[in-house]
Amino acid sequence: MSDIIVDLNDRSYKIIVENGAINSFSNYLMHNASVKNLVIISHELLMKNYGLKLKNNLENSGYEVIEIILPDGDDSKDLKIYNEIITKMIDSNCDRTSVVIALGGGVVGDISGFVASSFMRGIKYYQVPTTLLAMVDSSIGGKTGLNFSKKKNIVGSIYQPVSVVVDPDLLNTLPFSEKVSGLGEIIKYGAIKDRGFLNNLYEWVKDIENFPYTKAIERCCQIKAEIVTKDENETDLRRILNFGHTIGHALESHLGYKMIKHGEAVSLGMKCSAWISHKKGLLNTEDYNLLIETINRLPLPKISALDPEKIMHYINFDKKNENGILNFILLNGLGKAIVTQDVSSFEILESIKVLHEY
Ligand code: GLY
Repeated sequence: MSDIIVDLNDRSYKIIVENGAINSFSNYLMHNASVKNLVIISHELLMKNYGLKLKNNLENSGYEVIEIILPDGDDSKDLKIYNEIITKMIDSNCDRTSVVIALGGGVVGDISGFVASSFMRGIKYYQVPTTLLAMVDSSIGGKTGLNFSKKKNIVGSIYQPVSVVVDPDLLNTLPFSEKVSGLGEIIKYGAIKDRGFLNNLYEWVKDIENFPYTKAIERCCQIKAEIVTKDENETDLRRILNFGHTIGHALESHLGYKMIKHGEAVSLGMKCSAWISHKKGLLNTEDYNLLIETINRLPLPKISALDPEKIMHYINFDKKNENGILNFILLNGLGKAIVTQDVSSFEILESIKVLHEY
């Protein structure tokens, strides 16, 4: 496998996808060796399962390692936890040469990235994702953030890591439902950029336990790297990564984050967006069926009794963040996502009915 590069001039970095990488992590360090200390930010169970091996490997290579353990759950992406992390870093004599290692899923990655972007005006950090979702999406591209006053990611920055090290072996302890959630995002990459990849996914998702995770993660990382390279700040092209997300976010907010996982909601959102694309004559029937049947092979939660008003309330809330404009992602053919403002509330509500039909 050739290196996957996010090419951003002097902020360019490599995404390494390597089974067992966690056990020889020091081989993948890219920063200058003269660092004060390395700070692993993680959760308790992840630290026990993987972090200790990582720590041993780094200590054996001569580094001082600090551990910072976060409480479980999305609540940990707030200012209180941020405060605790910074306090612990100051107490541990961290300085401008300290390096953060984010060992975890999206929450750990987001808060650790934000800590790195703000501690002493910015220090280096590595993303070491442990969930399938984080491996294919949130660990790449430098989006960092905190929730504040019940608003998600309202405080944050785009701050790129020194490297992203993906060890697919870490999926061995990932709960099945988290794998399904990650597969939703993987299908998204086929839908927006690579019809051939989607054809493979149609076969591969039949058997989720024996799914070729490493191969699929590599392809998703390549696609995400290409997109971030072209549009780091999400002024245009990067928006296509939000395929399925407008309706997906509304479903997550409506049903509650405990009822539906992010990638599951995105999968359902993709069905709706594909239906709108098909209805508008952008996506032919064969391609529409291929995408829908691939998604239908995932064991997704059954949706009943959606309240259309609530769905539109959440979608309109997202719109407010974009100066009143709803940038919707459709497929102008499979593997060819487009950004459009030409999707009406009526079309969105009609598309949601499709969720009850399968
Ligand atoms: N998760 C979408 C993005 O990184 O832009």
